Amino acid sequence: MRIHRIAAIPGDGIGTEVIAAGIEVLEALAAADGGFALQFEHFPWGSAWYLSHGRMMDEDGLERLRGFDAIFFGAVGSLEVPDHVSLWGLRLAICQGFDQYANVRPTRVLPGIDPPLRLSSPADIDWVIVRENSEGEYSGQGGRSHRGLPEEVATEVSIFTRAGVERIHRFAFELARGRPRRRLTLVTKSNAQRHGLVLWDEVFAQVARDFPDVATDKVLVDAATQRMVLKPGSLDVMVATNLHADILSDLAAALSGSLGIAPTANLDPLRRYPSMFEPIHGSAWDIQGKGIANPIATFWTAVMMLDHLGEAGAARRLMRAIEAATEARVFTPDLGGTARSADVTRAVLKALRRVPHS
Ligand code: NAI
Ligand code: MG
Repeated sequence: MRIHRIAAIPGDGIGTEVIAAGIEVLEALAAADGGFALQFEHFPWGSAWYLSHGRMMDEDGLERLRGFDAIFFGAVGSLEVPDHVSLWGLRLAICQGFDQYANVRPTRVLPGIDPPLRLSSPADIDWVIVRENSEGEYSGQGGRSHRGLPEEVATEVSIFTRAGVERIHRFAFELARGRPRRRLTLVTKSNAQRHGLVLWDEVFAQVARDFPDVATDKVLVDAATQRMVLKPGSLDVMVATNLHADILSDLAAALSGSLGIAPTANLDPLRRYPSMFEPIHGSAWDIQGKGIANPIATFWTAVMMLDHLGEAGAARRLMRAIEAATEARVFTPDLGGTARSADVTRAVLKALRRVPHS
């Protein structure tokens, strides 16, 4: 029996709801499989923890997480704690502390879903956005001086290192090479951002020489938004900086139907540290406690986690069960339906029982 140890960090708001649903589905999947088991340990970190402990996680939090095979993360963010405190104190502390430099964000139109964009074929949206996850605009460099005075100044400095840029490009090329269309689009803003993003362009061209089998092109980030809307079928894998990819992936999720279905993996491709898997959405206070959060993003996230753990068969089965549930149009309100979160979970569990082990 293969045992995988998972640290579960539900966090805030609907994070707690969708992670509970994700664990229920994963446990059913493992029990039916018989070949592997998942051992979850729960960490109650988040904004409530901050209000009683003065920090978003234990001081030795990273040490405690280090021995796990993966981290299954919900979301952080609450009205009581400033967003930059909650984000940097937990999610970014883990991503950066564990050098999870590759953030992978797949988007597809799942069966049964009518995306808001008129497509000639659902296959037009089949993208993976590769987000640089360790530096760039979110490197935390900068500060504020003359606080509160009229001449107050704040700097937010982007950092781009050759090593950081090269490793994310290599990762994106490898990923593109493994997909049927083998196409990689570089997204930058290297006309206006003339230092860091020109470095992105140069390193991309150098790395491309090692991947002659991958077709490449490049587009500026503003033009990328209109290309995603008007010519979605021309895109396959996109690689972009931390900030640009953050924005583009919310657009991608919305174009494919909802933020409530979009998953992501924060990977340390070198496997020195645990990687972290989470839905891309946040804690969604507007719907928390109502029982209507869409758990599909978290289920799809679980598929990515299983793949990373080497459980490819179980990952495939779970993806087929998710698709059976969307095909049956068991939709929460974000997808235009009236189902509750629990109905979606039930539909996926039911479909799982029917998906053959192959
Ligand atoms: P959000 O992603 O929480 O919500 C945006 C909109 O999408 C809301 O209308 C929400 O109801 C809807 N939505 C999101 N997930 C959904 C789901 N699973 N099912 C149905 N509807 C869903 O983003 P927002 O409102 O900008 O931020 C709320 C809080 O979350 C903030 O504190 C923010 O900092 C935090 N946040 C945390 C993230 C993380 O932990 N990775 C990522 C994004 C935001
Ligand atoms: Mg985002």
